[in-house]
Amino acid sequence: MPAPTTPQLAATAARRDRLAQRIAAVGGGVAIIPTAPERRRNRDTEYAYRFDSYFHYLTGFTEPEAMLVMVVGSDPAAAHSVLFCREKNAEREIWDGFRYGPTAARETFGFDEACPVEMLTSRLPELIGNQPALWYALGYDVAQDARVLDALNTVRAQGRNGVQAPADVRDVRTLLDEMRLFKDAVEVDTMRTAAIISGRAHKRAMRATRPECFEYEIEAELLHEFRRAGSQSVAYNSIVAGGANACVLHYVSNDAQLRDGDLLLIDAGCELDGYASDITRTFPVNGRFSGPQKDVYELVLASQYAALEHARPGQTYDTTHDAAVKVLAQGMIDLGLLSGSLDGVLESGSYRRFYMHRTGHWLGLDVHDAGEYKVKGQWRALEPGMVITVEPGCYIRPGEDVPAAFWNIGVRIEDDVLITASGHDILTIGTPKTVSDIEIVMSDVDDRR
Ligand code: GLY
Ligand code: MN
Ligand code: MN
Repeated sequence: MPAPTTPQLAATAARRDRLAQRIAAVGGGVAIIPTAPERRRNRDTEYAYRFDSYFHYLTGFTEPEAMLVMVVGSDPAAAHSVLFCREKNAEREIWDGFRYGPTAARETFGFDEACPVEMLTSRLPELIGNQPALWYALGYDVAQDARVLDALNTVRAQGRNGVQAPADVRDVRTLLDEMRLFKDAVEVDTMRTAAIISGRAHKRAMRATRPECFEYEIEAELLHEFRRAGSQSVAYNSIVAGGANACVLHYVSNDAQLRDGDLLLIDAGCELDGYASDITRTFPVNGRFSGPQKDVYELVLASQYAALEHARPGQTYDTTHDAAVKVLAQGMIDLGLLSGSLDGVLESGSYRRFYMHRTGHWLGLDVHDAGEYKVKGQWRALEPGMVITVEPGCYIRPGEDVPAAFWNIGVRIEDDVLITASGHDILTIGTPKTVSDIEIVMSDVDDRR
């Protein structure tokens, strides 16, 4: 196998080795990991291409029409990785740009073998034959399923020639999800850079915000900062939600005018080299929090600090949530949003009227990243190398029994957090967060960008 040409590609080769070991440890077999298809947006126009996350994790190869096949057998040391990809094509490259072609792809990315994607139909049955199991994400993409099942049936038809078809089809994601949960050094570096870019974008948005401007103008500031720093995309559609829109959890229209005296909630993060960042900040449109806004903001911030206390090895994913909920519930009682005792509010779940989502999720190649949250029915312990978001919020819709001063206040504060051996490392640490940090950034008119 040729040596991969960059530290990033060396990391993908190391992940292939680890996958081979894991496959061998549970009986061996052959893994098939296709990349994502191109998707039409309308007529002859396509969406910006985004590779499949599992495929990218194992290859770093960003072209469409590609597939990784890892023939592991039962000996990981003898594992053989084959990339299927588009051939070089002078004509298509004039229209669509550079493609590696199998020869350069093999040398650059460090595969044992690379073949034109047109050879899949003939080669796939041969690679699958006589393997104890087929490791494949069946049901994720019907077109790929058809291709893989065709190959499987072709092998089955060769039974009289002494070729055996894999007896089991097993979900390769069960192995890859667990690997993806623990970020290697290259992944942490990329995620830290993505977080820094997104933090800068939030700061730029704070400085650009004025009463009367439109949510989309602020969205444009975010996108400007993401792209100028080299990120390829947003990690998810940005939420830029002024006033009451902040209480719509998946608000995406971003087309309302911002009003003096309202808050603006921004949930936005860039994707860098496949890795997501995911930051929420909430700040006053006019640069100064009102009394009730500050009350709610300080409550959500206190709940985030409480959750972060539990973001360390040995705690579970769920304890961060419980810690945030406890602080939020007490605060809701203190602010007159809820009545009763803390135990009563926790027991009845009445706090969910104002806090209806969980406090975080795994973060990585996907914004809601791969990985089980429970193992054998128990919330899993946090371990070094995991990355989570910590994102409590409080969303107060108008109601007769709700003090009017709090109506339409929606606050969420979200950071990206790497679990380390000694606790945690907040990747988004540079993003202004306290009331005074935010008010200083927003008053700094001479330093607007
Ligand atoms: N931006 C998606 C989320 O916070 O989960
Ligand atoms: Mn999130
Ligand atoms: Mn978010």
